[in-house]
Amino acid sequence: MHEFLGKKPVKEKAESEKYIEDCIQKYESHSICRLAILEKESGNFIGWSGLRFIDDYTFNDHTNFYDVGYRLIPKYWNKGYATEAGKASVDYGFNILNIETIYGITEIDNVASHKALLKIGLNYVEDFKHTDGSTLRWYSIKNKNYE
Ligand SMILES: CC(C)(COP(=O)(O)OP(=O)(O)OC[C@H]1O[C@@H](n2cnc3c(N)ncnc32)[C@H](O)[C@@H]1OP(=O)(O)O)[C@@H](O)C(=O)NCCC(=O)NCCS
Repeated sequence: MHEFLGKKPVKEKAESEKYIEDCIQKYESHSICRLAILEKESGNFIGWSGLRFIDDYTFNDHTNFYDVGYRLIPKYWNKGYATEAGKASVDYGFNILNIETIYGITEIDNVASHKALLKIGLNYVEDFKHTDGSTLRWYSIKNKNYE
């Protein structure tokens, strides 16, 4: 799961609680955060996807931007779910929240994520050096109906 996520999974329940608290605050400040994904057929929780307003980190000289992301339980990989959830998230961001640009970020070897971002409709822009020394990829998509 964490092969391309910096290999620093949370270890304490308190870390997850802090993340949930952050998400609730993001709903209040920016009307959106990551969402649970349920598989329609089974009703099972299979992971998360959605938009997050990034104001606590800098990526590729950007801060204060919306990022589309996803993380699925491995047995649900390769079924197109990240693409489906990502497309729904971008549609919501553009048509309901009227966001001008949505960005995506992956580690350079994360081929599954790279492919999913392209299928969602984002464009690969460039590779960049992150502050932790890793090389990451930068993607974006513009809202054609932005007003
Ligand atoms: C990245 C992730 C969300 C993709 O989810 P998914 O539901 O499997 O993605 P999709 O099925 O929508 O699309 C994945 C594409 O990558 C391809 N793919 C998957 N693993 C691959 C690999 N190791 N090498 C090359 N292509 C791969 C799939 O075949 C598919 O492409 P296709 O439609 O052309 O066949 C999932 O792998 C995951 O949760 N990974 C761990 C967390 C993570 O890395 N999150 C992203 C951080 S940027």
